[in-house]
Amino acid sequence: MKKRETSILSKSDLLDEGSNNPSSNAHFSEILQVRLSRRQIMKGGLGAAALGMFGSTLVGCNSDSSSTISSGNNFSEPVLGFKAVSTERRDTITVPEGYSAIPFLALGTPVCGSYPAYKADGSNSGADQEQQMGMCHDGIHYFPINDSSDHGLLVMNHEYVIQNVLHANGATMVDDIRTVEDEVRKEVAAHGVSIVEIKKDALGAWEVVPGNYNRRITGATPMALRGPVRGNAKVRTKYSPAGTMTRGTLNNCGNGYTPWNTYLTCEENWAGYFVNKDAELPREHSRYGVRTINGRYSWETVNDDDYERFNVSSTGASSSDDYRNEVNTFGWIVEIDPFNPDSTPIKRTAMGRFAHEGAIFAPAIEGQPIVYYSGDDARNEYIYKYVSLDNYYQSTANGELLDNGTLYVAKFDANGNGEWLALDYDDAAFQAACVAADVQFADQADVLLNTRLAADTVGATRMDRPEWGAVHPHTGEVYFTLTNNTSRTEENVDEANPRANNTYGHIIRWRESGNASASSFEWDIFVLSGTPEDSGLFGDSTQPLNTDSMHACPDGLWIDPNGVLWIQTDMSGSLQAEGPFGANQMLAAEPATGEIIRFMTGPNEQETTGVVMTPDMRTMFVNIQHPGDRSPAGGPFTSNWPDGGSNRPRCATVIVSRDDGGVIGL
Ligand code: FEO
Ligand code: CA
Ligand code: CA
Ligand code: CA
Repeated sequence: MKKRETSILSKSDLLDEGSNNPSSNAHFSEILQVRLSRRQIMKGGLGAAALGMFGSTLVGCNSDSSSTISSGNNFSEPVLGFKAVSTERRDTITVPEGYSAIPFLALGTPVCGSYPAYKADGSNSGADQEQQMGMCHDGIHYFPINDSSDHGLLVMNHEYVIQNVLHANGATMVDDIRTVEDEVRKEVAAHGVSIVEIKKDALGAWEVVPGNYNRRITGATPMALRGPVRGNAKVRTKYSPAGTMTRGTLNNCGNGYTPWNTYLTCEENWAGYFVNKDAELPREHSRYGVRTINGRYSWETVNDDDYERFNVSSTGASSSDDYRNEVNTFGWIVEIDPFNPDSTPIKRTAMGRFAHEGAIFAPAIEGQPIVYYSGDDARNEYIYKYVSLDNYYQSTANGELLDNGTLYVAKFDANGNGEWLALDYDDAAFQAACVAADVQFADQADVLLNTRLAADTVGATRMDRPEWGAVHPHTGEVYFTLTNNTSRTEENVDEANPRANNTYGHIIRWRESGNASASSFEWDIFVLSGTPEDSGLFGDSTQPLNTDSMHACPDGLWIDPNGVLWIQTDMSGSLQAEGPFGANQMLAAEPATGEIIRFMTGPNEQETTGVVMTPDMRTMFVNIQHPGDRSPAGGPFTSNWPDGGSNRPRCATVIVSRDDGGVIGL
């Protein structure tokens, strides 16, 4: 019998579908020495002077008890105003004294169509699931209606499915074949995006409004391809011989929202859903980890065009007769207009194809290009930036700004400087790098389909699994989480990824040299995450974290309008069960001082991911993903959150508010 590629066990098995980066890009071990000496200077108390560009924020670090710190910018730095929660290992949500947290929009909650009720025994059908909240809630955004903080659209991602929890008794398989088609339909429907109109009732409780905006977008929803890859020979399929359409979005992880009020959902670990059994895989499959024995959930084994498309082997005479190119229509950032329920989601290809974690915009400035960032979450992959060709004007801006622009990849130099390297077929430096590396691309569409290879070619810096980013709304500083990288060795540590066997992760930050579209930047490490014995604020081990601030595997990240940096963690199931950090959690940080305080801890085996607030900053929405993900099929369940008793766990949003109705965090 053929060997089965590992099916789902837990989130940590699913993520980071393997290190597929064979490039030998420099790890700067020699230049490390330069930065190490700089750290010596910092330890000597000259940190602010030595750091230069971050000097203003580090001054805050050295200041004593002043409640408002000026960093030289025209805003007041936030001062956190709650008491830390301790690390917890309980099957519940814990928030600080004076705060409440209420579960909302759990898996299976009816949100559209005929509003089929959730069945606690896991017996809802695929058709039901298409009208209910999906599984594995992740990136989330609140779009106010008429600027309201009491009425808006809550839009969120559903990353993947846990079959043992989703179905009454797990997935039905006979000899590695899916024999119950409706289970597969249900799994496809539990992926994607939910758009839900919500409103506060007379008593102040949030409820679903059964209105026209409500919509489920799933792994089967028709979508258009736009940008340079539209119509390319490598995206033509039996479904769309013209290469302009595809079906579905998958593994929707982090998110973004545009200055023109649309939602962006990011396709992360999509490659593993597909199988290619050909003798040789094309580079646009192999470099991303397309499987060779079976897809992650073996969807391709159902005899129906809706599912056979997950077999991306060359089975027909040409690409119009099979789905060899189906996987090339995945790996993109997808734009959705939540206010137009009839709109077709659009895969925007100009930002490149990789394991997109999120889409993070710099503040849009009238008359300047729009700029957004995205990390490629796999071991030793890269951080990218997109700069639009046309300038932003609020009155006319739309998604076409995402179709014409330049994609860059980050190179972090040892001296605290960095460069954005263009992945542009028409750029002379890019062409020279291709010649030097003996790598050929046919055109810009080919560059984008093979974004990772293009980044290898120009010598970008291999990072410790870039997850979410956040742009400070006032300073423009960009923060990015690097969640962990156990494959980094002593030999290939570098300045930006300074720890071998990086099990705890870190957060890096940079400031562009000029406008957000600048081609260079200055960077520093905001925090080396970890225990009090192995951590360091500003990358400095003499400023370790304490019991209130220690955390590991930073992942979700958001800077609220007050400038508070919210950090969410995604430790593996074993680190949660046995490590010193308790369950996955969310912390709040003051970017200027580096003060970090634990704000929330979650139930068993979950990951805390995705956070947003209403404009008045009095309601916070936080997503709780994969509670009880190590449960056996059909139970007994390792988490019973949020329904309690012996119930199966349900991914859900939690609504956090202050009991006195005040602004959250301060
Ligand atoms: Fe879906 Fe990288 O987390
Ligand atoms: Ca996630
Ligand atoms: Ca994540
Ligand atoms: Ca993660």
